[in-house]
Amino acid sequence: MTPPVQTSALDPIAVLRGFASLRRLAGSYPAGHPMIGQKLRELDEIISGLLRTGSPVRIDVIRGDVFLDGVASSSEHQANQQLLSQLSALGIDSIHIHDGVQRDELLAVAEFLWQSPDSPDSTASQLAGRNVRHITLGRLLPLDTRWRARHWADAPTGPLDPDYAESILMAQKAWDDATAGKPLDVVTVRDLVQILIHKVARSNAALGQILAVKQYENLTYCHSVNVAVLSLLLGKQIGLADATLAALAEAALLHDVGKTQIPVDIVRKPGALDKSERRMIESHTTLGAEILIQTEGLHPLTPTVALEHHRTVKGTGYPDLGAAIPHPMSQIVSVADIYEAITGARSYQAPTPPERACLIMARLAGEKLNTGLVKLFVNAVTFFPVGSLVRTSRNELGIVVRTNRREPLHPLLALVDDGTYQPVCRVDTAARESSGAYARHITHSVPAPDELDLRLFLEPAHAG
Ligand SMILES: [Fe+2]
Repeated sequence: MTPPVQTSALDPIAVLRGFASLRRLAGSYPAGHPMIGQKLRELDEIISGLLRTGSPVRIDVIRGDVFLDGVASSSEHQANQQLLSQLSALGIDSIHIHDGVQRDELLAVAEFLWQSPDSPDSTASQLAGRNVRHITLGRLLPLDTRWRARHWADAPTGPLDPDYAESILMAQKAWDDATAGKPLDVVTVRDLVQILIHKVARSNAALGQILAVKQYENLTYCHSVNVAVLSLLLGKQIGLADATLAALAEAALLHDVGKTQIPVDIVRKPGALDKSERRMIESHTTLGAEILIQTEGLHPLTPTVALEHHRTVKGTGYPDLGAAIPHPMSQIVSVADIYEAITGARSYQAPTPPERACLIMARLAGEKLNTGLVKLFVNAVTFFPVGSLVRTSRNELGIVVRTNRREPLHPLLALVDDGTYQPVCRVDTAARESSGAYARHITHSVPAPDELDLRLFLEPAHAG
């Protein structure tokens, strides 16, 4: 029995395999050899099949997985490792094939691969020299160099503040329900808001886990909980009344709920997005607002924040709402959202430490974010927030256990052993020597390993 053609015809691996065999044949046989002609025909057929479903055909190899137009191939992974490492060794991890491609272009590309040229000319100009007009090869675009990156966990992996852990579980349930198309459970949302306000946002241990560098890629429900807590932090700094804080926490918690309506492959896509994918991602704002408008019992501003949180104080951003400036509540959530995203990991980048995140936020102030809110936020967070693991100028390792309002760069530290992370002693980095100089400075923050249990150093959530 012949295997079904359809499946393999739409498999990007078949294209890569075709190029690899053609490359081998072109290196072993003279031009015009029937074996080359046969392989060329096969490859042409596969590519024509793919082009019928849309042009260009984009094949990316990211972290050893093959993606066709951004969607992971379902082919057996193991069998392709050798092929993928061959291509990777050639420096090729992205092949784009446009409609109108000719067989002699396929052959030219295969020959190019065979010669694996060490030329100062760019791949593009070398291909152009071979008259290849419908195929581009190369390293992925800078935004796409994610195949190099490590794979991050989806959620915090270390021991968590118990209330924070509970709130993440509740958010996950609400998120999963929304993904399954079930209506939002407003009672759960309200309970969650209360836990966030009265417990999580009052717990130094939880705040530490949210403010410091996060070694996980949290695109969904964890992100929502974190943004809600950070919004509360900023809301309290502004002096918002309790009822407004509750509305803020609700809106922040649900700001990205529209993402439940977008295929997870696109939300988590490791490669750069094309126009239609970008439009789809951007639609999470309007989709979220629609879901929230239809949900009875929510605060009236909750859909507004979902709609506006990617709009800037200059009236730009998405969705296009003319020159309208976002509601202050949306502006608060935007600040929290951006800090959370910067200090979290992404498949293509390591998380940014708080001190750098604060500088990045400062650059966005006035352009994207409200300057006054950024100042208040950075004051609340400080460069070295509670829970950060930091290195001092005396090469000590310590955890920030209390920030110093008057001297934000000189918090109180619990020093820990460099190898075991056991507590050593406490030092006040604001202490000065007899000369008047600080006894020590914090030089930088460092990512905290899972073995470091912040709960041993920081207060858990207050009861009640
Ligand atoms: Fe968003």
